[in-house]
Amino acid sequence: MTAAQPTARIAATGRFLPDRVLTNKELEQMVDTTEEWILERTGIVERRIAPAEMGVTEMGARAAQRALAKAEIDARDIDLLIVTTATPDRWLPSTSCEIQARIGAIGKSAAFDLHAACTGFLYALTMAEGHVAGGRADTVLVVAAEKMTSIIDWDDRSTCILFGDGAGAAIVQRSENGEGILASHHRSDGNFADLLERPAGGAANPLDAEALRAKDHLMKMSGREIFKLAVRRMAGAGRQVLRDAGLKGEDVDLLVPHQANIRIIESTARYSRIPMEKVFVNLNRYGNMSSASIPVALDEAVEQGLVGPGSVVLTAAFGAGLTWGAMALRW
Ligand SMILES: CC(C)(COP(=O)(O)OP(=O)(O)OC[C@H]1O[C@@H](n2cnc3c(N)ncnc32)[C@H](O)[C@@H]1OP(=O)(O)O)[C@@H](O)C(=O)NCCC(=O)NCCS
Repeated sequence: MTAAQPTARIAATGRFLPDRVLTNKELEQMVDTTEEWILERTGIVERRIAPAEMGVTEMGARAAQRALAKAEIDARDIDLLIVTTATPDRWLPSTSCEIQARIGAIGKSAAFDLHAACTGFLYALTMAEGHVAGGRADTVLVVAAEKMTSIIDWDDRSTCILFGDGAGAAIVQRSENGEGILASHHRSDGNFADLLERPAGGAANPLDAEALRAKDHLMKMSGREIFKLAVRRMAGAGRQVLRDAGLKGEDVDLLVPHQANIRIIESTARYSRIPMEKVFVNLNRYGNMSSASIPVALDEAVEQGLVGPGSVVLTAAFGAGLTWGAMALRW
């Protein structure tokens, strides 16, 4: 989709990462793997683990509060709160309502959850943009919070090495001087639904003793198949938004890709003709935090001065579903 003139911008970002670090070395003691294998095949060195008593409501609320503080916005002035998570604290009610209460965004705000797995933050930004463009909201808070370690099978070496916990947030408001979302592109293909799933615990396959024994309430992934699809889909979406925004690879100041695997990131950058010096990577420190990866990366990139007023940022993501997408922004 093309936006000739941006209508919505990211006014501020925030993040929260739990303190506890889990290193590759520690994983060597837990499953049949090595530090070197994990680093070479994924680019990950360590990841954060939330304590047992901390869920996504708490992590998301803390990221949201940091974004609100930076934008100097009172939580009561939020018109809409969208939360993306694949790991809600409970199935009912929505995590967005729980975060809404936790940060005190009560008054005029509506709140709902959006589930598009790792692509969720980009989907949510586009929803926020639509509400701002349509005049239905002045201030939208988007929160992406994930406790991936709560759905990991710690005996499965092909998945437990990849993921970490964390939360990111963004405040979306009306564009003022031509800054904001230039173009976005979202797709999904449910034919690949079985490649990354939690088979049990839902309406079709409720949790019972047999499901628990088979660990069907935990994440199952066909990593190699996802890898191939991710590179093609993410790179294709990136090229599409650049075309829609009338930009070329060399116009991009920073590529902020979903942080799943360094080899996927490098291929996406190559296809998009963006050198690795212009690619933001924090996967080495956090692993894959699903939908929280991009907002955490954006917040760090702004803090490090890699993104500032006028910067052109390209983001791209893929995840379970399959879902994928990309967005070009002028900061
Ligand atoms: C999971 C992933 C790291 C595996 O890397 P890979 O290079 O594709 O490795 P393969 O799956 O081909 O496995 C190669 C071998 O390494 C083994 N292996 C898997 N995990 C291992 C680990 N942690 N340590 C050591 N060996 C491991 C496999 O068992 C396999 O052994 P085999 O050849 O004897 O069968 C990679 O496929 C990946 O990152 N996929 C994308 C996953 C993803 O991003 N999912 C989230 C979507 S948002």
